[in-house]
Amino acid sequence: MPNKFASKSENMENKKKILITGGAGFIGSHVVRLFVTKYPHYHIYNLDKLTYAGNLENLKDIEGHKHYEFIKGDITDAPFIQRLFEETRPDAVIHLAAESHVDRSIKDPLSFINTNIIGTVNLLNAAKAIWEPEMDKHLFYHISTDEVYGSLDHGGFFLETTPYDPQSPYSASKASSDHFVRAWRNTYKIPIMISNCSNNYGPYQFPEKLIPLCINNIKNNKPLPIYGKGENVRDWLYVVDHARAIDLIFHQGKIGETYNIGGFNEWKNIDIVQLLCRIMDQKLGRAEGTSEKLITFVKDRAGHDLRYAIDAHKIMNELGWQPSLQFEEGLEKTVDWYLANESWLQNVTSGNYQKYYEEQYK
Ligand code: NAD
Ligand code: DAU
Repeated sequence: MPNKFASKSENMENKKKILITGGAGFIGSHVVRLFVTKYPHYHIYNLDKLTYAGNLENLKDIEGHKHYEFIKGDITDAPFIQRLFEETRPDAVIHLAAESHVDRSIKDPLSFINTNIIGTVNLLNAAKAIWEPEMDKHLFYHISTDEVYGSLDHGGFFLETTPYDPQSPYSASKASSDHFVRAWRNTYKIPIMISNCSNNYGPYQFPEKLIPLCINNIKNNKPLPIYGKGENVRDWLYVVDHARAIDLIFHQGKIGETYNIGGFNEWKNIDIVQLLCRIMDQKLGRAEGTSEKLITFVKDRAGHDLRYAIDAHKIMNELGWQPSLQFEEGLEKTVDWYLANESWLQNVTSGNYQKYYEEQYK
């Protein structure tokens, strides 16, 4: 049975208020854009601290929309979050705000513990305080990752029932937040849902992550750092397809359930980077093989998970979700976007990015 948010009210007085956290980040900005443009009967609050990864330029096209409101704030600040919930009284929360980069979690685990664990608990507490005693009219939808399941060998897939086995400070903090979300359902009866998605790629991804980092470096003729032998496998999904899955789960998912999201699209890192080099040589009018010469094998990531692979049959069979793009098509669209949005790339790679880059790849 679809949940409460499947019904639609056009009455301005009864507008459903949806609080999306982390909406200025990569995935969050695609979710905010989809909800603001597709559901004019909602009022969308976007709560974001605007860390290095949050960028209001990601939402330029919808910033003036009358049913959209940006709120700058930190989810680790409990009194602020409590006040915000009392004042805005959101009907539902879609929680994406997080520290999201594994390499940064290896250098500074505490900021991941604060944002990803404490921040999530602050949101749960604030929701509980204003939703009681009518909990069942509400929804706390937590966006998580496939990394909570750990690392796979060469066979098998992550199912929704796979036991948690996080291996990095990032994935341990996300796993912990998932546990807290489920505990708040069991103990306080908050209606929750969780989805665990595989690696996303696409427009607006911060160029610390493999694909945009390599696009930026190929463009600037800089080395392409491949950790270890490039044999690690990730399961890639175009970000808009993740946003579509979030929309579907939010409106038609079952309360208390977990949904895995992925496109059955596994690639070794080295193969992806070689494909990117070929696409970019073509787009930049360079001779075939030029960019591949930039590939440089560097020291492996500490505790580097070998393989992630999502079994997405549950969301496909129960909710009818399907990815809309083939990987090669999505990658080409992504390259086109980065090449067409040079000033976006320049803005996010100026300043602190240079310092991060030098420390990470020295
Ligand atoms: P991102 O790093 O691009 O964006 C995170 C956003 O959260 C930024 O806008 C940042 O400003 C905001 N934020 C960080 N700390 C905050 C705080 N204390 N208070 C308020 N806002 C804060 O991340 P992303 O890649 O868009 O990931 C979004 C969510 O999806 C995360 O929860 C992540 O774990 C999950 N996820 C990501 C992927 C992926 O491939 N990127 C895959 C599966 C799940
Ligand atoms: O699986 C979902 C997760 O995917 C999300 O939860 C995370 O938020 C997101 O960052 C991503 O994590 P990964 O660690 O898999 O993504 P990243 O782009 O950092 O790395 C992808 C692969 O490429 C990984 O095996 C490490 C490798 N890599 C990465 C970088 C940045 C390199 O070889 N060189 C690099 O410079």
